[in-house]
Amino acid sequence: MKVAIAGKGGSGKTSISGTLARILARRGRHVLAIDADSNPNLALTLGIPAEQMGSMPTLPRDLLRRTDSGTELTKTLDEVYASHSVTGPDGVRLLVMAHPQHAGTG
Ligand SMILES: Nc1ncnc2c1ncn2[C@@H]1O[C@H](COP(=O)(O)OP(=O)(O)OP(=O)(O)O)[C@@H](O)[C@H]1O
Ligand SMILES: [Mg+2]
Repeated sequence: MKVAIAGKGGSGKTSISGTLARILARRGRHVLAIDADSNPNLALTLGIPAEQMGSMPTLPRDLLRRTDSGTELTKTLDEVYASHSVTGPDGVRLLVMAHPQHAGTG
């Protein structure tokens, strides 16, 4: 199951995403959370300390390769998880995409 949450600013996207992810993980589902916001703060809602996120590397530019049929990953998903994800207290795995220095809460 893939769930994407989008909407206007300050409408509760991060709160709903984090809560849903934590409930599903507590029920035993494998949950991968991706915070694609340019000002990411989903980690906080998932119970992951900000300093733990800040020390993670962001996704490298060469992770995608163009081919005649489209684009493909240059690493396996397991490799990406190992190097660019953090797991919260309920077992939700958060993929680190970017963390600009000015990031704050929503
Ligand atoms: N159901 C709710 N009832 C009351 N307040 C809420 C509710 N859901 C979220 N909030 C509060 O509203 C504010 C905005 O929530 P949140 O950060 O989840 O929104 P967002 O859509 O992710 O915002 P942004 O567009 O800035 O990323 C926060 O202070 C949050 O605590
Ligand atoms: Mg948000």
